[in-house]
Amino acid sequence: MIAQLRGFIVVLVLSTVWPISAISAPSQDVEVLHWWTSGSEAKAVQVIKQMMENQGVHWQDFAVPGGAGESAMTVLKSRAISGNPPAAAQIKGPALQEWASLGFLTNLDGVAKAQLWDQRIPALINKDMKYHGHYVAVPVNIHRINWLWINSAIFAKAHAEIPKTWEQFFTVAEKIKQAGYPVLAQGNQDWQTTTVFESIALSQLGAKGYRQAFIEHLPQVLTSPAMVHSFALLQKMRPYIVHPENHQSWNRATAEVIHNQAAMQIIGDWANGEFLLAHEKMGKDIRCVPVPGTAHQFIYSVDSFAMFQLSEPNDIKAQQRLAHTIMSPELQARFNKIKGSIPVRSDIKLTGFDACSLKSERAFKRSLKTHSAVPSVAHGMATTSYVQGAILDVVTNFFNTPDASPKEASEKLMRAILAAS
Ligand code: GAL
Repeated sequence: MIAQLRGFIVVLVLSTVWPISAISAPSQDVEVLHWWTSGSEAKAVQVIKQMMENQGVHWQDFAVPGGAGESAMTVLKSRAISGNPPAAAQIKGPALQEWASLGFLTNLDGVAKAQLWDQRIPALINKDMKYHGHYVAVPVNIHRINWLWINSAIFAKAHAEIPKTWEQFFTVAEKIKQAGYPVLAQGNQDWQTTTVFESIALSQLGAKGYRQAFIEHLPQVLTSPAMVHSFALLQKMRPYIVHPENHQSWNRATAEVIHNQAAMQIIGDWANGEFLLAHEKMGKDIRCVPVPGTAHQFIYSVDSFAMFQLSEPNDIKAQQRLAHTIMSPELQARFNKIKGSIPVRSDIKLTGFDACSLKSERAFKRSLKTHSAVPSVAHGMATTSYVQGAILDVVTNFFNTPDASPKEASEKLMRAILAAS
């Protein structure tokens, strides 16, 4: 994804036409790029904004709509190429290493030391935040991806039971359909389809096989019967999706579950934020259960903010303050309670959090002990942006060709991943 950018940077550095540092105003401003534009996301952003403004730092909002940040990343690249990146940007997982290796990011070790990040953030997450041993980003939360959200009212009317296996899932889906209710909410966007696919793949491959496929890229695992079956299960879901052709946003799909226009949705717990905003009683009106076959595993997506190199001392101070605020106990509790995620700091008590967040926290802790927490592919946590792009393409093309062969898809997946890595 940033291959193009890398080439450009070489030219940029050689010709020294533009400085890599940002051009910035003298006041205490912090410009932050993010993609949190749904109702609950925007409400969560307000918490950070308000806490910054209380400290006299003006939050310059740079929101680029588009789930999972695909559009935001495109915009960020063009700003960086023109030598004018924002002070901070929502960048996740291995992409942080890509940006740091290009010389864009600044060192946050001072704040990290003062707030004991090494001790307070799980090691699994910390490693992505550091480049050559130095912090270049601050994480804010942990989202669980492998959730199945259930509209209890539709389930009750259709006399449907909560599914624990894929066999039960399809029996229930058929029952709901026969009873005349819409079944699955889903927006046909590459990252949404891949979000569903990675949960299915985890159920078939297990945590070890998932890592072998999506992190180690082992050809024999990528084309294994378990992977072929994962594609087959994804294909089997299509007839139950309310609008399989609609490229609708994820929160529009979540709204279908809220308004009794769909019985289920498979998506990360940012959906929980939307349910909470709609005053749903989590665990009652809307139930959250692990995607069939993944009860003991946890696919994680961690939102983090990378800090870009700036030249004005005031701007640098504002940036360090932002990092400090994001990691503060107050923000960790207030922000995550709205966002549907859990705090990234392991020392924060989840007082007043909803039932699904509490379930997520328990699942996360358990999965750390059993080595069954795995990074999300669709949300850029597992692999480079190049490999991620290749996976999104294969999964999306397969999904949009209803009679495609699952076996051929697994072979395409293997070839695409090997070519991109
Ligand atoms: C994820 C991100 C979440 C949420 C979601 C939908 O990648 O981790 O915070 O924003 O995308 O846009």
